[in-house]
Amino acid sequence: MSIKRIGVLTSGGDAPGMNACVRSVVRTALYHGLECYGIRRGWNGLITGDIIRLDERSVGHTIDRGGTILYTARSKEFMTEEGQQKAVSTCKFLGLDSIVAIGGDGTFRGARALAKYGINVIGIPATIDNDISCTNYCIGFDTAANTAIECIDKLRDTMQSHERCSVVEVMGRNAGYLAMYVGLAVGATAVLVPEEKIDFERDVIEKIRQARFNGFTHYMIVVAEGAGSASDIAAKIKDAVDLDPRVTVLGHIQRGGTPTARDRVNGTKMGYLAVELLLSGKTNRVVCTHDGGFTNVDIEEALQMHKNIQQIEVDVLAAMTGI
Ligand code: F6P
Repeated sequence: MSIKRIGVLTSGGDAPGMNACVRSVVRTALYHGLECYGIRRGWNGLITGDIIRLDERSVGHTIDRGGTILYTARSKEFMTEEGQQKAVSTCKFLGLDSIVAIGGDGTFRGARALAKYGINVIGIPATIDNDISCTNYCIGFDTAANTAIECIDKLRDTMQSHERCSVVEVMGRNAGYLAMYVGLAVGATAVLVPEEKIDFERDVIEKIRQARFNGFTHYMIVVAEGAGSASDIAAKIKDAVDLDPRVTVLGHIQRGGTPTARDRVNGTKMGYLAVELLLSGKTNRVVCTHDGGFTNVDIEEALQMHKNIQQIEVDVLAAMTGI
């Protein structure tokens, strides 16, 4: 299989480090004498032909920028047969033989659809939710975690001064990886994630009491958005122990900001590996982290895999929160 023209796109929710990854795909492609094109606005760009030529300069000074210079979208049209046919026509018309798709599961489902029409595709996991099963790490997670931690540290100052209870909602869609990691990092009183069955009395109220017995007079409850709304949890706490919790929904602030070193370097390595895979004749793969290094798996297999919150995180949380 001979590779000549690579298209690169970002799709789904943006994640800090996506730009580092795009930059790496472009520079690795050019290094090997290939042409590289940016497909803008996710899979929609392939349908509408929203495509720009990328050179070394066009990705200069992007490694340190959050968001995505290629814009992003969640394309409903690309999920239809008709949308996919249009995308294939664009590839054929422009002679794009390969696509590197940076994003989450939805992005990979799009890549899998395109592969059926004979286009070479490589997926790179990027989402602050870190919920892609085939990989331990997704680009953007570290920056989002650090942003949430910084916000919660600030909240703690005022919660401690007023001896209050804070309920903080962390993003993650249906997954609790971000909330669990952040909760451990801020020394939360309790962390609620959708993967763990919640007994409100045991997992929240008793932990607040335990903290009080240990001499604390402020409480930090971290809730993954998939585990329930912070307002509902706050109301239940008020009912149960007559505290008057303050609610903070961190929201999209977690998706922005300068990427951390980890996201820049992982993004750069994964972009490089995606192009190397294409050059070695591989297609239909997802680049992933594994055992401290990198590997790649078949997209179909990647979409079938399942991952869970690490048991060590659950165990450590129990030890740290006293129950
Ligand atoms: O998948 C990333 C994510 O930020 C989730 O954590 C969140 O549930 C969702 O995207 C929000 O999507 P939107 O930006 O469309 O509101």
